[in-house]
Amino acid sequence: MTRIGLVSCAPLPEPDPDERLLLGALTGAGLSPALLPWNEPRSNPNGFDLCVLRSCWDYHLAPERFLAWIGEAAARTRLLNPLPVVRWNIHKGYLRELEAAGVPVVPTAWIGAGDAADLARLMSARSWADVVVKPAIGAGSYQTRQFGVDEVRQEGRDFVGSLAARGDVMVQPFMTSVLTRGERSLVWIDGEFTHQVVKRPRYHGQDESVSGAEAPDPADVRIAEQALGCVSGELLYARVDLIEDLDGAPLVSELELIEPSLFLLQHPPALERLVSAIAGCL
Ligand SMILES: Nc1ncnc2c1ncn2[C@@H]1O[C@H](COP(=O)(O)OP(=O)(O)O)[C@@H](O)[C@H]1O
Ligand SMILES: [Mg+2]
Repeated sequence: MTRIGLVSCAPLPEPDPDERLLLGALTGAGLSPALLPWNEPRSNPNGFDLCVLRSCWDYHLAPERFLAWIGEAAARTRLLNPLPVVRWNIHKGYLRELEAAGVPVVPTAWIGAGDAADLARLMSARSWADVVVKPAIGAGSYQTRQFGVDEVRQEGRDFVGSLAARGDVMVQPFMTSVLTRGERSLVWIDGEFTHQVVKRPRYHGQDESVSGAEAPDPADVRIAEQALGCVSGELLYARVDLIEDLDGAPLVSELELIEPSLFLLQHPPALERLVSAIAGCL
């Protein structure tokens, strides 16, 4: 029996609405899926014919260990999305590559691990009044905080210092459109755009709130495709998150190629397409 491992983690930091749907649809297609929590001592990719990264939502807490585990998985079985794609995508420094390739991205100041940074000076040099500070390796809004100009001297500086002690840090202007327009997530399955949802803003410790499937703006699709064009490697799934600037122009905030929620509940044809693509890999 061909076995498919859906790479997860235990405990899950939050429920995964895609999980039940994907397990059910793969089983319904005559396949044999099982959850494979990467961080459990006994979890072993041996014996699986294909490992699909899904709700491994804690990898940012131990990125080196996660990369070693999926390296092992890639050596023993087939891993999707593939290992080189994951290695490239795990650190949000890829945004610099997108920018260099002409893709509009959310403006970002980078603070290297261990570097001392004066957040107040950084903000005034860029004329940023409100900012979002987050780790360059992060997921699920982990350690993502917003600071206004009055808070940066003490709280903001301490927060940047505590993040920089552990890894690279990103500082971005707070994009007010997340409050009005929301953040758009555009989903691709097996090389084809399937659907878009709109997300409400979310910071450390908050739950995600998401719209139903919507028709995308063609300009969003163009930019997302431009971003995906910068990726080398075969993609089973991809999600591009976009935020508008003050003039309403879309900017890439994230290219999610490791463990994105695919919002399959919102768009059943995307689930069908994912199941067919997985079946086609076996
Ligand atoms: N520059 C920004 N302006 C406004 N909100 C932001 C900004 N960056 C992040 N956020 C909020 O924080 C959330 C998490 O940040 P994100 O960059 O998507 O990282 P991840 O999803 O990997 O944790 C976003 O969904 C958004 O709600
Ligand atoms: Mg995000």
